[in-house]
Amino acid sequence: MERESSRIETLYLNAHPTSYKLFQRARQLIPGGITHDIRYLTPFPLYIERATGTRKWAVDGQELVDYWMGHGSLFLGHLHPEVTRAVRAQLEKGTHPGACHPLEVRWAELVHGMVPSAERVRFTGSGTESTQLALRLARASSGKDKVLKFEGHFHGWHDYATVGVRPPYQVPVSRGVPEEAAGQILLCPPNDIGAFEKLLDDEVGGVILEPAGGTSGTIPTDPVFLQQLREMTRKRGVPLIFDEVISGFRHAPGGAQEYYGVTPDLTALAKIVAGGMPGGAVVGRAEIMDLIAFRGDREWDRHDRVAHAGTFNANPVAAAAGIATLERIGNGEAQRRANRMGERLREGMNEAIVRTGADLLVYGEGSVCNYFVGPSRVGLRAGEISSRTDHRALQATNVKSHHRLRLAMILNGVDIPPFHGWISSVHTEDDIAFSVQAFEKALRMLQAEGLA
Ligand SMILES: Cc1ncc(COP(=O)(O)O)c(C=O)c1O
Repeated sequence: MERESSRIETLYLNAHPTSYKLFQRARQLIPGGITHDIRYLTPFPLYIERATGTRKWAVDGQELVDYWMGHGSLFLGHLHPEVTRAVRAQLEKGTHPGACHPLEVRWAELVHGMVPSAERVRFTGSGTESTQLALRLARASSGKDKVLKFEGHFHGWHDYATVGVRPPYQVPVSRGVPEEAAGQILLCPPNDIGAFEKLLDDEVGGVILEPAGGTSGTIPTDPVFLQQLREMTRKRGVPLIFDEVISGFRHAPGGAQEYYGVTPDLTALAKIVAGGMPGGAVVGRAEIMDLIAFRGDREWDRHDRVAHAGTFNANPVAAAAGIATLERIGNGEAQRRANRMGERLREGMNEAIVRTGADLLVYGEGSVCNYFVGPSRVGLRAGEISSRTDHRALQATNVKSHHRLRLAMILNGVDIPPFHGWISSVHTEDDIAFSVQAFEKALRMLQAEGLA
């Protein structure tokens, strides 16, 4: 099919010939040419050469203000000097001792000191592994297989996490997921305590959610709902899992559980916990977490405990980055700063929307900036996004407009992920002012193509 001609796409192609060539090579071997679904961008993705602070440079030399921040993992920005120093020091000592090592102990102590639910800490290799292990622990502890999750909440890519992510919610977002796995998940609309109460029957062995809102705050959370969830699950003895892969250490040093004052039984962590390196953790109540521990009792060790392996669990290089990061964000100052910059960015972008009259929404909380292109199509209006907004409308995406907006932002010097950007504690007023100007120019380019 002949593609319509787009000035934005032509400018993007002309500005990024090396990215285009790399993509042509990549797609010969890498399915679709990309290595994470969220990096899908038409007509081709941008290739990045290097990054520092809040900036990164594309292979053709363009400088960009970055709101990917390592998919939200680089809360201190790219190449923070202390994090880099710690990683370098560990590299000199080896990347993998295949053994327990001193850094994992220090790392666990830091996590324990910051996250309210962290009586015990077990390191994993990623956020997906963290939610998978948390679900296994919940099931083992409750003795029940069914898990209740919320529509529009994202927990990684393992089989159980593929249902209830995007409309139509009952259909997994992937092929190849056994019905037996998908069938274990009960779906509840977010922020609906009546529906939750009905679903929380005797078969439910665990409840999982993103406490700061589904899909990185795309669907805002009602704090009262969180408290009600906590009360009901506690009363029924059902383990409550917070997926704080995004919100952990970001909303507050203790994550969303500190921010909202609600403590779950188990918490899945990743991203910031490992300071921009691959890694994650599950933390929680000792009684549940200790199901992983060997007891030297043959029956228990073989038949009763929860098994957990992973070549890269608590990898010392990730531990070094994690420690250097957590040591610098424990007093809340970094979070307050990032939240303030988040507020400025959202305000500035909303003012640009008013000035241009573009059909876009910007909203969010703390250091997450959510955006939605084409809200009038689905009846959403500016200033009205709350935990009561229909979550299906908030997830009704217009892929073409989103991709075109991303290209236009890149052309104006800003790289922001689809649907939400993550602000770090090192973004400056200048970065924000520059980004707002870039956004306004991008909106006008989009309007010229009838897409906003
Ligand atoms: C809330 C949430 N849970 C889980 C994950 C999966 O983490 P990972 O990509 O490290 O597997 C993500 C990733 O973005 C996430 O946002």
